[in-house]
Amino acid sequence: MKAAATAPANARALAAQALARVVRGESLRAVFTATAPRLTDARDRALLSSLLHEGARWWLRYDAALERLLERSLREREADVHALALLGLVQLDVLHQPEYAAVAATVDAVRALRKPKFAGLINALLRRWLRERDNLLAQLDADPVARSAHPRWLLDALAHDWPDAADAIVAADNAQAPLWLRVNRRRAQREELLARFAQAGVEAQAVAGHDQAIVLAHSVDVTRLPGYAEGAFSVQDGAAQFAAGLLDLAAGQRVLDACAAPGGKSAHILESAEVRLVALDSDARRLARVAENLARLGLAAETRGGDAAAPAAWWDGKPFDRILIDAPCSATGIVRRQPDIKLHRRAVDITHLVAGQARILDALWPLLGPRGRLVYATCSVLADENAGQIERFLARHAGARALDVAPPGWRRPGAGGAQNLPGERGMDGFYYAILEKVH
Ligand SMILES: C[S@@+](CC[C@H](N)C(=O)[O-])C[C@H]1O[C@@H](n2cnc3c(N)ncnc32)[C@H](O)[C@@H]1O
Repeated sequence: MKAAATAPANARALAAQALARVVRGESLRAVFTATAPRLTDARDRALLSSLLHEGARWWLRYDAALERLLERSLREREADVHALALLGLVQLDVLHQPEYAAVAATVDAVRALRKPKFAGLINALLRRWLRERDNLLAQLDADPVARSAHPRWLLDALAHDWPDAADAIVAADNAQAPLWLRVNRRRAQREELLARFAQAGVEAQAVAGHDQAIVLAHSVDVTRLPGYAEGAFSVQDGAAQFAAGLLDLAAGQRVLDACAAPGGKSAHILESAEVRLVALDSDARRLARVAENLARLGLAAETRGGDAAAPAAWWDGKPFDRILIDAPCSATGIVRRQPDIKLHRRAVDITHLVAGQARILDALWPLLGPRGRLVYATCSVLADENAGQIERFLARHAGARALDVAPPGWRRPGAGGAQNLPGERGMDGFYYAILEKVH
């Protein structure tokens, strides 16, 4: 046992154990954060990240392949060996690693799992895949779930809501997302930061149509980029970077960010104007991250723990000029960044999320002052959480009107809202609606 504790950790074996936990319901991000410190080499941590993301992204495809390759399922009894076999297929088919090396490294990893009795099985299974790949791929492609690596309910919802774009959404979900940064205009100039990146050999470029955005050519550890420690930038997708602008901020306004953690949009609001910001979140642990993130950027807000749908417990009675509701949602617009969403989310979750979003909207509307503006945002592509939600809100509130403002090129699904679909203009799937209080 002692020898195992001191032996260098095997990235593939750790990835298999981690992936098995993700498939059982744990969040990919949390499992990666807990597992990565066990690997001392940065390249091993990068391999862990890649295997975990691609393993979750392609689980539904290669799990179906394993059903055809294995006589008896290992999924329940030997979940880590099952996940390792799946990662073997991912290394061959998705990551295009050299065949001999991928098979040998996967067989080594089964020994690192201390399950050498499965070494022969893994070896035989991967070799059979290589021999019969064309035939097996044809079988997988005949089934929409295995072909797309998306659950049935999500395929149905995409086909219903976006009949002309469902295939493009699936393709975007199955590709890696670029890394977007937002320059903190209070600490840095975009051109100057780009020059520092270039000096450090980091390939990056400014994005037309975005004041503060930079896109990196390759994924990197952002904490090692020039300017990180001094708060010169934050990681934030281009679609999320429209929220602060849509709020139409001005100095002196009282602003509520109602679902604030971990503080990406709170920070952007504070970078944009001298406002008094209340950053609210119902999750105390996530709320602590708002304060940490703002401190790194040299910003400050009043942070409050509380349920946005029950303001009596935390509101001081003073109206807000602006409210941002970055609502808890299905996150179906960011599947390319968080592929475990495809494994964890169920159709029934959408009904609960939609009801929760309506409760938050109705509870916060009275807190908005006359002529005040409320921006409703989700990283969802589902109509029920977006245009449908806003249409129903407008029907319930005669004093509300939707403003017809949208970022350039975004889709206009109705009710004055704007939708970007995953991958469009390089950005995440995102929805915005702007509601003004008329009376
Ligand atoms: C989409 S995330 C917010 C991301 C954040 N605005 C940003 O840009 O970094 C949604 C947040 O809503 C919070 N939340 C969920 N239900 C809530 C409620 N009833 N009241 C307040 N916050 C809630 C979650 O804890 C989560 O942090």
